[in-house]
Parts: sequence; C-alpha cells; structure tokens
Amino acid sequence: MKKVLHKVLMIFFLIFTSVGAYAQDATLAVDSKTVFYVVTGFVFVIAVLVLMVSVVVLQLLRTFVRQQAEQLAAERGEVYEEEESAWKKLWDKVNDFRPMEEERELVLDHNYDGIRELDNHLPPWWKWLFYVTIIFAVVYLAAYHVFDALPLQEEEYIAQIEAAEAAAASRMASLPESNIDETTVVMVEDAGLLGKGRQVFNNNCAQCHKESGAGGIGPNLTDDYWLHGGSIQDIFRTIKVGVPEKGMISWEPLLSPDQMQNVASYIMTLKGSNPPDAKEPQGELYVPEEITPGTTETESDSTQAVAKL
Ligand code: HEC
Repeated sequence: MKKVLHKVLMIFFLIFTSVGAYAQDATLAVDSKTVFYVVTGFVFVIAVLVLMVSVVVLQLLRTFVRQQAEQLAAERGEVYEEEESAWKKLWDKVNDFRPMEEERELVLDHNYDGIRELDNHLPPWWKWLFYVTIIFAVVYLAAYHVFDALPLQEEEYIAQIEAAEAAAASRMASLPESNIDETTVVMVEDAGLLGKGRQVFNNNCAQCHKESGAGGIGPNLTDDYWLHGGSIQDIFRTIKVGVPEKGMISWEPLLSPDQMQNVASYIMTLKGSNPPDAKEPQGELYVPEEITPGTTETESDSTQAVAKL
C-alpha cells in the first residue's frame, strides 16, 4: 500500500517539475504558439493525472470490496469465489483455447525428430477477421468495379489534377497584371516592398549569396564589381534569365515580376554594406550613370559606365 502511494507521489512530483520547466521557457519568449502548447500540454497532463488517480482509486476499491467479501464468506464458513470478469469471458470466447488436459487428444501422429505438433483450431478472432476481409472484398469489388460508384485511382488522379489546374487558373486570373520587365523595372524605395525583397532573398538566394550578400557560391552582391552589370535593370535581367551554365538559375518561373523587382531593389540597398568575410570582387567596376537633368538617356550598361571613367 505504502509503495503504491510513494509511486503516485513520485509521478506527481516528476510531472509537476516538468511542467515548471515548460512554464519557465514560456516566460522567456511568450508567443501565442508557445502559450498554446503549454496550455495543451497542461490540460493533457491533468487529464492523464485524473485518469491515473481514477484507476488507482478503482483498484483500491476493488481490493477493499474483495477483502470484505472474503471476510463475510469466512464468517459464514464459506469459500469466497470471485465471478469471472467480463474481460476474462471475452478473452476466452475470442481465443477458445482447448484446456491443457485435452492436449493429448490434439497431438498429431507425426513425430519430427522428437518434435510433435498440436492440431489446434484457428482462434475465433482470427476467423472473424478473415470473414471481415471477405465481406470487405465483396463490397470493394461491387463499389469500384461493378457499380462504378467510387472513382478508381486514375480517375481520382485526373480529377485532382483538374481541380488543381482550375485553382491555379483562377489564382492567375485574380492576380493583378504585372508587366514589369528589364526595361521597365525601377528601384523600389518603399520599406514594405524592400522587406518583401529581403524575404525573397533570404529564402531563395542566401544559400549561395549569404544573407548579408557577402557571397559564397555566388558572387558578392555588396561591392561595386559586377559580372553582369550593376544597374537595377542589369540585376533584374540577371535574376530573370539567370546564368544557368554558372549555377545561377533563371528565376522567372519561380518568382513573379514584382518579386524580382523587389529582390533586385533589395540587392541595390546592400551596396557598400561591407559585410564581414565578403567574397573578393568579381567582374567589372560599375559606376552608376549620373542622370544629368535634360538628358533623356536612361539606359545603363556596365561597359558604358566603365568607359565613361
Ligand atoms: C545555387 C546558387 C545560387 C542561387 C540559389 C542564387 N544564385 Fe545568384 N548567382 C550564382 C552564381 C554562381 C552567380 C555567378 C554567375 C556567373 O559567374 O556569371 C550568380 C550571380 C548573381 C547575380 C549577378 C552578380 C554579378 O556580379 O553580376 C545576381 C544579381 C544574383 N546572382 C542574384 C540572385 C538572386 C536575387 C537570387 C535569388 C532569387 C540568386 N541569385 C540565387 C548562384 C546562385
């Protein structure tokens, strides 16, 4: 009895200390997700505790009742016999074991080097399962192949592809038409759009160019030297068409023109940020063209810019 109590107290103690550890973590960085997890965990722990306590109490009650019954029977000079539990009855029914005493009748005639075999019948639960599979097979056959009531794999696949295509078409139709390309792209200044560009960059480009733009597999994007030109139009074009033979894919299929404009603008803002361990300059020095008032020429090209030096 004492042992059980000790165990229960120990479990309580351990569970509560773990909950305490959780709660401390939560106060360090409380966001709604953490709160959700802590609350769910707490409710779960409480539920488990209630369940465990109920089981213990029921067990105690059972022992107590049995003791009483035995005492009563002893007083009357009878022997107390417990009724078979429902569980035991069910167990016997689904297994239908032959009693040990009948084993002699079950032994087969064969004797395999001293190993003998019992001719036990299949347990009822196994047979029931087998009948269920037969019924399932008939229902399945009828539903899928006789009455065509349910779609087969291929039909299901085609239907899903059609649904996905329809969803994609409606999404495309609802998108505002954007016709930004390398001739019309402009440097965006809006902090929100630059933030979006930064996100695109960190998600797609940072593994080769580093989050800081310092360069890795791909070149440094923060210096004044460019392989493919440093104007917003050049950068946009590099992103759009890529340099596939050098490992820089074309991002046109993956990014919308707006996203490419945002990320190109974000790259422009990295210029001169001098990140630590930046890759050595590659390509040619790019000097932005002075757009003097009155000139209409806006085309910028790295070679042109260098020539002007
Ligand atoms: C798998 C690696 C990889 C990824 C991912 C990648 N790049 Fe590149 N990038 C390169 C390489 C390599 C080059 C150099 C190409 C060359 O040598 O001509 C390059 C070149 C560039 C250049 C031209 C630099 C110059 O000096 O002219 C720009 C701009 C650029 N990448 C932007 C991006 C952007 C924006 C993304 C994400 C949308 C991106 N890159 C993703 C590897 C990558």
